[in-house]
Amino acid sequence: MIGFRIGPLDAAVDAASFHCGQAVLDEYIRRYASQDVRRNLARVFVASPAADPRRLAGYFTLSAGSVGCSDLPAALARKLPRYPVPVALIGRLAVDSDFQRKGLGAILLADACRKVVQVSAVLAVAGIVVDAKDGSAARFYAHFGFVQMPGQSGRLLLPAKALPA
Ligand SMILES: CC(C)(COP(=O)(O)OP(=O)(O)OC[C@H]1O[C@@H](n2cnc3c(N)ncnc32)[C@H](O)[C@@H]1OP(=O)(O)O)[C@@H](O)C(=O)NCCC(=O)NCCS
Repeated sequence: MIGFRIGPLDAAVDAASFHCGQAVLDEYIRRYASQDVRRNLARVFVASPAADPRRLAGYFTLSAGSVGCSDLPAALARKLPRYPVPVALIGRLAVDSDFQRKGLGAILLADACRKVVQVSAVLAVAGIVVDAKDGSAARFYAHFGFVQMPGQSGRLLLPAKALPA
């Protein structure tokens, strides 16, 4: 089992060789991620093999967001007010093809959830929203308990109560 280090996006990491099978996610980490960090639109975290710290094996982004009550699953919407509620957004999460199906996606998702739990002590969120780029990505998130948001194709939610304390 390979050991990974996860930390904030770092210019020393080689994003040019990153390929995950979704061109938009490759393009994002190469061209736009550092701009988003500078403009406070997203925090970007990268994973590298412990033995090869310049290699980019995977990444995810975290931002604040909000969702309307009608976009929430009915069971959750019933317990919440009718105005938009705050959420944490995993806007992008991707693993390089060389590292897929080896557990890194699960490690990145768990790390993102852990970070949200820490932040939620000082900034309330009703859940975590993810944007799945296709059906396969949606199945990956569903595997970890995320549920489809009604009327929001590709958006899934993990309610805050499902997060580890
Ligand atoms: C989706 C993605 C992040 C999964 O990462 P990964 O490292 O291959 O996934 P893991 O090896 O950690 O898999 C963790 C679990 O999810 C399951 N899983 C992984 N991909 C899956 C998929 N496409 N459909 C269903 N389950 C999936 C695995 O079987 C594994 O299950 P287990 O815990 O029972 O063994 C990765 O394939 C990827 O980057 N794809 C392209 C980009 C993308 O679609 N990103 C998500 C949208 S932003």
